[in-house]
Amino acid sequence: MNLTRRNLVLGALATPLALSPTSSRAVEASLRSAANNRKLLYGAAVTEDALGIDPQYTNLLATEAGILVAEGVMKRKTLEPRKNQYDFTKAERIWRFAQRNGQIMRGHTLVWHEANPFWLKDALAGKPSDKIITEYISKVAGHFRGRLHSWDVVNEAIEPDEGNDQGYRVSSPWYEAFGPDYIEIAFHAARNADPDTLLFYNELNLEGDVWWAEKRRSATLKMLETLLKKNVPIDGLGIQSHLKAYRVRYDDGVFSAFLKEVSDMGLRILLTEFDIADIDGPDDPVQRDADVASLARRYLDVAFSNPNVQGCLTWGITDKYSWLSRYDNYMWPDGRLSRVLPFSEDMRTKPMHDAMLAAYQGS
Ligand code: XIL
Repeated sequence: MNLTRRNLVLGALATPLALSPTSSRAVEASLRSAANNRKLLYGAAVTEDALGIDPQYTNLLATEAGILVAEGVMKRKTLEPRKNQYDFTKAERIWRFAQRNGQIMRGHTLVWHEANPFWLKDALAGKPSDKIITEYISKVAGHFRGRLHSWDVVNEAIEPDEGNDQGYRVSSPWYEAFGPDYIEIAFHAARNADPDTLLFYNELNLEGDVWWAEKRRSATLKMLETLLKKNVPIDGLGIQSHLKAYRVRYDDGVFSAFLKEVSDMGLRILLTEFDIADIDGPDDPVQRDADVASLARRYLDVAFSNPNVQGCLTWGITDKYSWLSRYDNYMWPDGRLSRVLPFSEDMRTKPMHDAMLAAYQGS
């Protein structure tokens, strides 16, 4: 396949939604249109239970994002709550919303150690057949066949902290049942079920300038190399990109060198879950917003200078619904919201938005 930008941006729409001339937003460029002009993608994870319920949020998603991904409702727990009983209702709501707004959509995620239904534990006990992976993927990826830009087929298979020589996450129920083979089983099943959709391996904590991120980078690269050598159908690496402005050092050179290693393997790259945690930062929100914005700009500038990077999705779009205000280690103890996404609690642009816009515009 030819790796030009034009080919990479599958079906991205040329024009964003029309905006009313009275809207103050009409004079600003949207992230969606800026991305589109550069043949890149910008999109966001969707909080399904706010969609259609919170009109401001719904409108923001429609106008700003060119590609959507479900934050939760395309995980196995939601799609197969009881064995062999599938429920695509919530996923389809997001799909229809995307269709109405001329947006494309990606799938997240087929095989992960989290967000699994309760029955799965028993089903994986003993010596399970790999049908527990292949039948699920055939059903789910088959259901969405031809409708998605890409799938995160396997999520977070690496955890160098767990003592495995190759850095596999050995505590994953999938690893426990199948060893590392579950990864290739999943990719082959996904290719069979939906031959034209891009298949991504998605991983967290790949970008920091710290020793433990270095271990994860090298384990991930080795794993990808091994899989590609065996002709496992992997099209790209998803770099989650949950940055932590005050906790994890970031270095342009380190990140850029890593991206080059991935692109040299012929893989596409997507920043799949971008946000910048502000916990441990100064009390003054203005200062935190400025720090977050400048890190966002540096990060995206490096990313967009690698020709295999297809674009970026933020994990949410407004601070109002960010998971980092609910997630233990990253929420402010006094109940203040985390300020980690391009739009504020009241859906206004933040410095992070302007920094991202400038990065997309290459200005
Ligand atoms: C998170 C969601 O944002 C939360 O709402 C949920 O409670 C847990 O999962 N890496 C991933 C995502 O791949 O699926 C996670 O999403 C965030 C970390």
